[in-house]
This record gives sequence, structure tokens and C-alpha cells, in this order.
Amino acid sequence: MIETEILQPDAAGIARAAEILRAGGLVSFPTETVYGLGGDATNDKTVARIFEAKDRPSFNPLIVHLPDVAAVEAYAVLEGEARRLAEAFWPGPLTLVLPIRPGAGLSPLVSAGLPTVAVRVPDHPLAQDLLRAAQRPVAAPSANPSGRISPTEAAHVLAGLGGRIEAVLDGGPCPVGVESTIVGFAPAPTLLRPGGLPVEAIEACLGGALLIHHAQDGISAPGQLASHYAPAAPVRLNATKARAGERLLGFGPVEGAVLNLSPSGDLVEAAANLFHHLHALDAAGTAPIAVSPVPNHGLGRAINDRLRRAAAPRS
Ligand code: TXA
Ligand code: MG
Repeated sequence: MIETEILQPDAAGIARAAEILRAGGLVSFPTETVYGLGGDATNDKTVARIFEAKDRPSFNPLIVHLPDVAAVEAYAVLEGEARRLAEAFWPGPLTLVLPIRPGAGLSPLVSAGLPTVAVRVPDHPLAQDLLRAAQRPVAAPSANPSGRISPTEAAHVLAGLGGRIEAVLDGGPCPVGVESTIVGFAPAPTLLRPGGLPVEAIEACLGGALLIHHAQDGISAPGQLASHYAPAAPVRLNATKARAGERLLGFGPVEGAVLNLSPSGDLVEAAANLFHHLHALDAAGTAPIAVSPVPNHGLGRAINDRLRRAAAPRS
């Protein structure tokens, strides 16, 4: 347990919240939609802690929050219809799924290893001030434990996450109260999650063209369904040791590992390393990958969920 600071919506509160974010801590902050659980999107360990604090059983990709269009362009490629929507609706309750700008420095855990990242520019004065003061891209899912209702007041955040995060910036109730609308481009504009910005407004901005609606109910995490990143090599789980020709991705004090998610068996460290190590093994060749058993509690559930996807037969 840590003591969660309650910060007031004034200059001192914003400065303290920014300081905590810059140091890699977790700060819940108000947006016009719901309270976000924010952390530095370039810090692997911090992003792993976001999943831990929410007790999420899987690594859904997160939304990265930035103060304006120019800041977004440092991390993502904004062109064509995406740019049109950004210029019309940002700041506001619209999230765009865009190609990651190579070398931008986002933690791969933010996008669950995907080549795209969800970004938005929130329309809330405190969120704006905080993002400018922190000078970091801020990854923020809704600030509720997994499976619970999204918080629209600081008291909701404290009830769910008090003792698990460094601070909450209390900005009173959120005006919109439902999450942002998410639009992807694959390549045509696609509604991935209905939300605070009406679909009709988006379609009008695109000259009346209808958005493709994602087949699945948007709330059920489109990132989970979309062609999730998997290495080209076959992956074998729960391997106590590597067989001939296999490369061992270790966890804990195992011998013979090519890479180790966490030699000390720390699940936060393992989550922070997961996508880096999978990408590195993928880049190094196609010899089969064996993975040490990872305990199935806390962040281990999300790590195992991701590893099972990586090991699943390819279609
Ligand atoms: O209003 C909001 O959007 C709030 C506030 C805090 O900004 N945030 C929020 O984040 O609702 P979260 O993490 O609860 O929802 C993120 C959604 C997930 O459903 C995820 O699957 C989708 O965005 N998503 C993120 N990155 C994606 C990607 N690269 N491709 C497809 N879907 C993505
Ligand atoms: Mg949520």
C-alpha cells in the first residue's frame, strides 16, 4: 500500500502531479470524459504498473494523452481523414488509432506491441495544464479497477484505486461522463468504440461517408481482436528448459535463457520487458521460442494472456 495524495486543482496541485508523473509515478486526473489513470507512456515500468494497479487480466492497448495536435505528431502519423477529424474535434472526446511514428520512444506495452497507437487531446483545463507541465505523453486508461465502472469523480477513483496510486488530482465531476469515441483507419475510418463524440458528427465531418462499425461491441477492447502482434517463430509455453534448437525466454532464476523477463521473478519488471523481448527474439530469427512458466497471479495473468496469444496457432 502507498499513501495516495489528494491534489487540489490549483497551480501547486498541478505542479505536484506533473512532478510525480515525470518521476514515473501514477496520477489519476480528470478529463472531460472520465478520470484517467495516468503514467509516463515512455516508461516501461510505469506502464506495467498501470496494468497492475487496475488488476487487468490482459494487456489492452492504452490511450496516450497529449496537449495538442503538434504534440501528437511527435508520436504518431496524422494524415488524411485522421488529420481532418483531429482538426475538427481536438481537444475533445475523440480517440484516433494512428501509426506509431518510428523511434518516438513510446513503451511497446502502451500499444500492446501493435504498430498503431491510440491518441487523444482531452478538453479539460486541468488535463491540459497537467500535460503541458509534465511534458510527457501520458498513457491513461479509465481510473477504475478492471471490470468496474469508470470513475467520474475523485471519490470514485479513491474508492477503487486508493493505496495503489501515488495521487489523484481532484477536479470535481467530469462533464461528459462516458469514455471517448474511438476511430481507427484500417484503412477506411472505422468506429472501434462509441463514446462521448456522436458518430453523426464524425460522419458529417467526413463529408457524409458512413463509418464502418466494428463487428464486435466496441467496449470489448478492439485491440484484443485486431491482428495482435505475434513473433514469426513458434512459441512453446511453460517450458522448464529449452529443447535442442529452441531459444529460452526465461522468467526467474533459470539457466540458459537467451533473454529473461525478470531474473528475480518480479512480475512488474517482466511486464515491462515482455514486448521488448518478444520483438528482440523476433528480430533475431525464427528458431522456436520456449518460455519459462510465469505465475498466474497479479500481472502474471496479463503476461500469460499475452503469451498464449503469441503461442496460438496462426491462421
Ligand atoms: O475517455 C477515454 O477515452 C478515457 C479517458 C481517461 O481518456 N480513457 C479510456 O481508456 O477509456 P481505456 O484504456 O479504458 O480504453 C482504451 C481503448 C481500449 O478499448 C483499447 O482496446 C483501445 O482503446 N485501443 C487502444 N489502442 C488501440 C490500438 N492500437 N488499436 C485498437 N484499439 C486500441
Ligand atoms: Mg475503461
